[in-house]
Amino acid sequence: MATVQQVAERAGVSAATVSHVTNNTRFVSPELRARVHAAMDELDYRPNALARSLRRGETRTLGLIVPESSNPFFAEVAQAVELAAFDRGYSVILCNSEGSPTKERLHLDVLLTKQVDGVILMSTGAEDALSQLVSGTIPIVIVDRDMPNMETDLVLADNRHGGYLATRHLIGLGHRRIGLISGPPGITLSEQRISGYMGALAEAGLAPDDTLLTHGDFHFESGRSGALILMNRPDPPTAVFACNDLMAIGVRRAAAEIGLQVPEDLSVVGFDDIQLASFTTPSLTTVAQPKAEMGRQAVRLLLGRMADKNAPAIRLVLLPDLVMRESSAARPSRSPDSACRLTSSRSRSLKEVLPGTATAI
Ligand code: RIB
Repeated sequence: MATVQQVAERAGVSAATVSHVTNNTRFVSPELRARVHAAMDELDYRPNALARSLRRGETRTLGLIVPESSNPFFAEVAQAVELAAFDRGYSVILCNSEGSPTKERLHLDVLLTKQVDGVILMSTGAEDALSQLVSGTIPIVIVDRDMPNMETDLVLADNRHGGYLATRHLIGLGHRRIGLISGPPGITLSEQRISGYMGALAEAGLAPDDTLLTHGDFHFESGRSGALILMNRPDPPTAVFACNDLMAIGVRRAAAEIGLQVPEDLSVVGFDDIQLASFTTPSLTTVAQPKAEMGRQAVRLLLGRMADKNAPAIRLVLLPDLVMRESSAARPSRSPDSACRLTSSRSRSLKEVLPGTATAI
């Protein structure tokens, strides 16, 4: 590896000038700057980031922990974080906690030892992993899943309002029996989306019915099995609100298995508005979370926190909005059950298709 001195000799400048060029610590004329870069290229010289970090007391690196990098929602927020960080001269280390608080804590440890300048945490929802960070000196911003007991900067969508929008949309289409497949229990936003669903029902004078509620886990299969449970009820729903798009796609799968057409026999609404939602057939009506804005705001808040560790915590709640597509329509004239009977020659009956991982609430 070439040294600063060799670059300086090749460029015909002092070692200090080479250092000023690589660290942008002082003005260097374009002519000298060009000579230094040419010499660096010829000698294949790269500044030692570790040495620079030690000198500056910063690594220009941010940590980002997500619960599941394979879920497009987290991937789309992560992309926005990386773009915003890059524009501000920072690299991002992405960690996947796979929904495990233990793994989340291990990733936090690694990021702390790597001396990242700050952490953006899309948490699993377990608060204990955060206590170590909040008590530590590292700046942190929580994104997506609220941590009511933590005094940290926070960016999330108004999940209750999102649940309300989805349900009110279906009520507006004439649906009176609306199934709900919620997110994992124990996560604040799961409860908030259920609360929005209940609020829209109450506003329309509709009594909640426990047989229309099931818990999912934000994965495809729990949407599929939850829908099979709901459609197996004596008085099945004519619409289903799934609390994320992956489960809504699972609902679509279940409908196909039991011979129901979406939206003719069953309306489906999701939550997140991942890019895939526009390309399913039928395209998915869903609640759009402001994913790119969440990522940008998270970086903005984190850099602000890095600049002033004592500023009061900021909680940024962004409004989701409803995106109406093809998967929701007016309430069908016949009940889904009769629809199944009408198409039973083409499909397995409800009873034959065994429910999978969803559980009734
Ligand atoms: O799709 C994953 C879900 O979990 C999203 O709704 C997001 O809010 C995350 O918490």
